[in-house]
Amino acid sequence: MDILVLNGPNLNWLGRRQTDIYGQLSLDEINQRLSELFPQVTLEFFQSNCEGELIDALQQAGDRVSGIVINPGALGHYSLALADALSALTIPVVEVHLTNVFAREQARQWTVTAASCRGYICGLGWQGYQLAIQSLLYILEEEN
Ligand code: DQA
Repeated sequence: MDILVLNGPNLNWLGRRQTDIYGQLSLDEINQRLSELFPQVTLEFFQSNCEGELIDALQQAGDRVSGIVINPGALGHYSLALADALSALTIPVVEVHLTNVFAREQARQWTVTAASCRGYICGLGWQGYQLAIQSLLYILEEEN
């Protein structure tokens, strides 16, 4: 079972960026925890600050992995291109945000990518990624 965990702009700065909002853990530390929690799953990790690289990663993953977890960062609020790439996928995708974006500034309360995903988790910190992977495992077990 292969799952891609994709992170968008500025998430490479977790642990040093607005830690009061996003927490103390770095992205590497989060990914390490996920690998330890799901030893039975092959987790692939990719982060990019570039919209096009994220779209390329989605297109390439569609044929290779069984599911995707994506934190699109700010792109989730406005990138129709990313939403289009997500809509083209036939494998399940769960979108994650560390923070509760609906309790933040108005611009963050708007999402263009959520409707292209199977599920959406926000406000639960790094454990949102854990819950997203767990949800994908349930979905894939039910559907296969
Ligand atoms: C975020 C929320 C976005 O609004 C923000 O731009 C981020 C992080 C989150 O995980 O809470 O970069 O995606």
